[in-house]
Amino acid sequence: MEPMKRDLIIKGKQIYLRPITADDTEMTVRWRNKPAVVQNFIYRRPVTQKDHEEWLANKVFKGFVHQFIICRNEDGAPLGSVYLQNFEEEHKRAESGIYLGEEQTYKKGIGTEAVCLIVDYAFGTLGLHKLSARVLAYNTASRRLHEKAGYAQEAYLKEELFLNGKYEDLILFGVINPRG
Ligand SMILES: CC(C)(COP(=O)(O)OP(=O)(O)OC[C@H]1O[C@@H](n2cnc3c(N)ncnc32)[C@H](O)[C@@H]1OP(=O)(O)O)[C@@H](O)C(=O)NCCC(=O)NCCS
Repeated sequence: MEPMKRDLIIKGKQIYLRPITADDTEMTVRWRNKPAVVQNFIYRRPVTQKDHEEWLANKVFKGFVHQFIICRNEDGAPLGSVYLQNFEEEHKRAESGIYLGEEQTYKKGIGTEAVCLIVDYAFGTLGLHKLSARVLAYNTASRRLHEKAGYAQEAYLKEELFLNGKYEDLILFGVINPRG
């Protein structure tokens, strides 16, 4: 995939999405390492500044990941990140992911709106056919969010992952481009 257009702004009702930049590194690493985020992610090791810089250089700036910062419309305050990764151009598919970095913003519909915006971008701008998302079964908020954003549960994988000394169930969600 071509890298994101650097001046792209995706506008929503409460929020807008802008492409992540190197200046977002400290904030993004802080968000990604918050316990509320880590416990809902499959990759559990702390993310260092160096890891993130390599991610930006090797994935985002080369177009293998399209990653956005979610910003509040009223004042531009950054709230979290939403992204597309694991592009399979042959099959016109990718995987979406999201985390909000500021817990006080939870349950206000921001997560759902951000995922709806990236789905529109994936289908409308990139012309993808399908997005998937992997959600730990205990993550009620993320399950609900994906259902509200139009994803359907496609698989329930029992005891798929060994996390923190325990086997955890994983749900695969998918959404298909209604325009083909
Ligand atoms: C998952 C996450 C993005 C949800 O963001 P959000 O802005 O709070 O989500 P929304 O406000 O759009 O809520 C979506 C639905 O989940 C529900 N919800 C939110 N938090 C919830 C919670 N802790 N428990 C149960 N339901 C919850 C909301 O009520 C809403 O459902 P409703 O409209 O039926 O009431 C956010 O909690 C987060 O960043 N979590 C940490 C990282 C993470 O889990 N990422 C996803 C990995 S797959």
